[in-house]
Amino acid sequence: MDALIIEGPSRLSGKVEVSGSKNSALPLLFASILFDGKVTYENIPRLWDIETTLKLLELMGCRTEWNKTSGQVVIFPEVTKKVAPYDQVKKMRAGILALGPLVAKYGEAKVSLPGGCAIGARPVNYHIEALRKLGVSVEVEEGYIHATVKGKLVGNEILFPEVTVTGTENLLYVGVMAEGVTLLQNAACEPEVVALGEFLKSCGAKITGLGTPTIKIEGGGLKTSSPTVVIPPDRIEAGTWVAIALATRSFLEINHCDSSQMTSVLAAFRQMGGKIEELNGGTTLKVTPSEKYSPLHIETAPYPGFPTDMQAQILTTLCLAEGRSTVVESIFENRFMHVAELQRLGAKIEVNGNVATIEGPVDFQGAPIMATDLRASACLVLAGLISKGTTRVSRIYHLDRGYQRLDEKLCRLGAKITRVAE
Ligand code: EPU
Repeated sequence: MDALIIEGPSRLSGKVEVSGSKNSALPLLFASILFDGKVTYENIPRLWDIETTLKLLELMGCRTEWNKTSGQVVIFPEVTKKVAPYDQVKKMRAGILALGPLVAKYGEAKVSLPGGCAIGARPVNYHIEALRKLGVSVEVEEGYIHATVKGKLVGNEILFPEVTVTGTENLLYVGVMAEGVTLLQNAACEPEVVALGEFLKSCGAKITGLGTPTIKIEGGGLKTSSPTVVIPPDRIEAGTWVAIALATRSFLEINHCDSSQMTSVLAAFRQMGGKIEELNGGTTLKVTPSEKYSPLHIETAPYPGFPTDMQAQILTTLCLAEGRSTVVESIFENRFMHVAELQRLGAKIEVNGNVATIEGPVDFQGAPIMATDLRASACLVLAGLISKGTTRVSRIYHLDRGYQRLDEKLCRLGAKITRVAE
C-alpha cells in the first residue's frame, strides 16, 4: 500500500489534462458482454477500478488487451463463466454492472452482492426488483445474486423508488435485449448513463429520453458486432481540479473537460468567489482564484444537482471561506468520513446526521491522515496541499482506484509530493 507525503502549502501553476471518466468507462466496459465481436475502447484511464473490471471480464473467459500508453483497451467477449466473484466485487462495487449484461446476453448470472462500503450500506435491491419485472428469476443465496431467465426477457414499466445510476445502467442493458418496450421512470439523468445509452444507440438500440427521468427502450437487440467507443472526460476529476486551483489559490488551465456536465459544480465555486472561464466550447476551464471566499449552503442531489462525488472536495475548500457554510449529504448516509481527518489538520467542522457545518477560514497544519474512500482521499490530498508543513496521507490505494496518478499530475504543476510504500 502506498502513502503520499505532501509538503505544503503549495502554489501551483500550469495546464492539466483531465483523464477519461471512471464512471463512464466501467459501464461501457461491462457492455462488451453484449457483443459477439471485439469491442475497442479509447481514452481509458489508468485506474485500479479498470484493472478490477478487466480482471472480472477475464475470469468470465474474455480476452482483454490494454495499451496503457495509448489508453486503448480491446475486449474479446468470449464469456464462458457467467460469474462475478466476491473477491473482485468486494474491491469495486461497480462489479454489480456485470449482472445486467450477463442476464441480457446469456439469460444467467451469478454475481456477488457488493456488501457495504465506507460511504454507506449501498444495497442493490432496486436492480433486483427491476430485473424481476422484466422476467428474470432472482434468488439471493450465500452472498450471491443468482439470476436466470426461464422464458424470454419481456419489457415492462419500472419505477425506481430512488434515482440509481448503476441500477439504470443495468436496466439499459437488459431493456435493449428484451422483447417489447421497457419504460424506466425516475431513471438517472447522469452523463455516464447518457454515454452508455448513446453507445448502445450507436450499435442499433432504440432508446429515447436519455438524460431525462423517463427513458423508453424498444427492445430487439444490437446490430453492430464489433464497435469502438471513446470514453468521455471525467467531470468529477475536472471538478476536483477546480477545487484544487481555488483552495491552493493557483491559476490553472484544465483541459479536456466537458463543462456542460459541470453546471452545478461551476455555479457553486463561482458563488464562493472563484473565477472560472469556459473556453474552447467548454473543453477548457481557466480558473482564477480569489484571496477571499464566501461561505455556501450546498446539498448533494442526483444530476443535474450538486454531485455527491464532489462533496468532500467542496467541503474542504469551504474551510477557507469567511463564515459558516453547510453541506447536506443527501445520497449516501455515511459520506463524511473525511471530516475527522480534516479535523486533524485543524478544520472546524461539526457533523449532525447528514449535515456538516463548517466554520472558516482556518489555517491547516500538516499531520498524518488516512484515506477512507475514493473522493475522500482526493479531498485529503487537497487538504495536504493547503496545510503548512508535512501531511502524510495513508491508504492512498483509494485514490488510485479513481484518479489517474493525481500525485504525478500535481507534481508537474509544482506540488511537492512523494509517494512511499508503507
Ligand atoms: N440505492 C438503494 N438500492 C439500490 C440502489 C441504490 O437503496 O438498489 C441507494 C444507495 O444506497 C444510495 C442511492 O440509492 O443511497 C444512490 O445510489 P446509486 O445506485 O445511484 O449509486 P451507484 O450506482 O452505486 C454511482 C457511482 C458513485 C456515485 C453514485 C451517485 C458508479 C460506478 N458509481 O454509484 O460513484 O457516488 O452513483 O452519483 O457509477 C465514486 O465514483 O466515487 C462513486 C462512489
